[in-house]
Amino acid sequence: MNPTQNRIRLFEILAGLLATQLVVFGLGFYMLNEPVRITESQTQILHVQLDDAMTLYAQNCSVCHGLEGEGIGATPALNQAALQTMAYEDLTKTIARGRYNTAMPAWSKEDGGPLSDYQISEMVSLIQSGDWNATRDRVVNLGLAPLVPFTTEADPALLAEVANLPNGETLQTAVTLFAANCVACHGADGLGTGIAPALNDPAIREKTAEELTRTVTLGSAGTLMAGWSNVLTAEEITALVTLVQRWDEVPAGILPAPNVPIPTTEESIALGGQLFSQNCSRCHGPEGQGTQRAPALNVKAFLTDTSDLAIQQIVTNGVPGTAMPVWGDRMTEAEIQAVVGFIRQWEATAPEIAVPAKGGGGGPPWLRNNTQSTTQPGAQGTTSTQGQGQGQGQGQGQGQAQSQPTWWQVFDWRILLLAFGALSISFTLIFMGFESLRRRPRIK
Ligand code: HEC
Ligand code: HEC
Ligand code: HEC
Repeated sequence: MNPTQNRIRLFEILAGLLATQLVVFGLGFYMLNEPVRITESQTQILHVQLDDAMTLYAQNCSVCHGLEGEGIGATPALNQAALQTMAYEDLTKTIARGRYNTAMPAWSKEDGGPLSDYQISEMVSLIQSGDWNATRDRVVNLGLAPLVPFTTEADPALLAEVANLPNGETLQTAVTLFAANCVACHGADGLGTGIAPALNDPAIREKTAEELTRTVTLGSAGTLMAGWSNVLTAEEITALVTLVQRWDEVPAGILPAPNVPIPTTEESIALGGQLFSQNCSRCHGPEGQGTQRAPALNVKAFLTDTSDLAIQQIVTNGVPGTAMPVWGDRMTEAEIQAVVGFIRQWEATAPEIAVPAKGGGGGPPWLRNNTQSTTQPGAQGTTSTQGQGQGQGQGQGQGQAQSQPTWWQVFDWRILLLAFGALSISFTLIFMGFESLRRRPRIK
């Protein structure tokens, strides 16, 4: 063999070695990435499923099962541990087919409902591994929070008066039960709400006790009226039926409209701030401090005396005969609620006496930014969530679904293989380089 042949031979060997090393290196790299890739894509799929499911929950289920799966009245909670461990098939069947003869409808397309099998499996994922804080935020941001006034307190003086009526004790019991369980849907003094009919009504009083007892005990299938037999005793149901039949004897105002804070999220408050500076600040001042045209809203007395629902009503209907416009036909309910949530978060820092803004213009942009800057998460937590004891938890449970493992968390022998591959490739290359340099002069 002459030196040239030798050299070619050597290069062939080196090239073969290099190719092998590259294959090993590539393989090692792929294997190293594989577990991360699988976990990542599984996490992503679950994430997308849960995201879809939260919207489906807001649209289809929150009206009965509550803002964050906590249950409303006789409708059970979905955020309970028992459901997280329930067999997948049983849970799927409950949602797909509903519960016969209860208010729980069938949801699968097969059974005449709106949801595909895939969507039902997403709902099961939500119930078994979803984040109810994030779900709550989704429901609020979509403006679908069931604004049912959950409970109220009977007026003590009027409740005492009821004792003087015939069989007064039964009526007292019933009023208290109604305040705790039924006022949510059937409204203050039983006069009805947007979601349930009045029970304090002559037409209802004409119904027989049997008829009414049947409805309260078993519910009305396919409507929001659930059966109460597993929540209330037979005597309690009888008392409630007595109240419904004799409501005309009960003094008006005994069950006042409750004070329910409108639920908020960071997004809804930001939206509310934006809507306020666009629509309200020119009259009420950029920071709600009032102008010559309209009274202050950012002031202690107003905020303490006026419930969220009352503010919502004022904004929706306007104040007839004054400059305060009707907003109900220009803003959606969700937008008005966002503005109310924004106004409410002033309460923590509202002054006793407001100093009206001069002129009453919308204010220059930097003043408007000022308004926005009061939208601090801290202020929000102290005001908007009062009485509900919730909401601050946003972002807590989220980490679990989102945290993705990084490569150093799966460190193992494959890293050594990789390092070895990389090292030997570099050596081969360096050696090839030296070799060609060393031989070059001889060719000349
Ligand atoms: C019209 C009111 C209503 C709506 C809307 C509704 N549910 Fe229900 N749901 C009920 C009632 C009432 C029950 C209790 C049935 C019973 O007594 O067994 C129930 C029971 C359930 C249960 C079983 C709970 C348990 O503890 O066994 C699940 C799971 C459930 N619903 C999921 C859903 C899902 C998911 C949606 C939305 C796709 C939904 N529900 C929408 C009223 C409703
Ligand atoms: C989640 C909302 C909701 C709650 C809570 C609720 N109801 Fe109802 N209720 C309804 C709806 C909706 C109807 C109308 C059902 C229908 O159209 O068949 C209804 C109907 C009734 C009726 C029949 C009225 C009629 O026209 O015959 C009675 C009686 C009644 N409810 C009593 C009660 C009592 C008592 C409670 C409390 C223990 C209660 N409801 C709690 C939603 C509710
Ligand atoms: C054209 C001027 C004008 C605009 C714009 C306006 N308001 Fe008013 N607003 C008034 C006046 C005037 C009153 C006082 C009505 C009265 O005398 O009771 C008022 C009253 C109110 C009240 C009741 C205050 C109280 O002390 O009882 C609330 C709440 C309110 N406005 C909210 C809003 C919101 C929210 C917006 C924006 C969506 C808005 N207003 C836009 C003029 C305005």
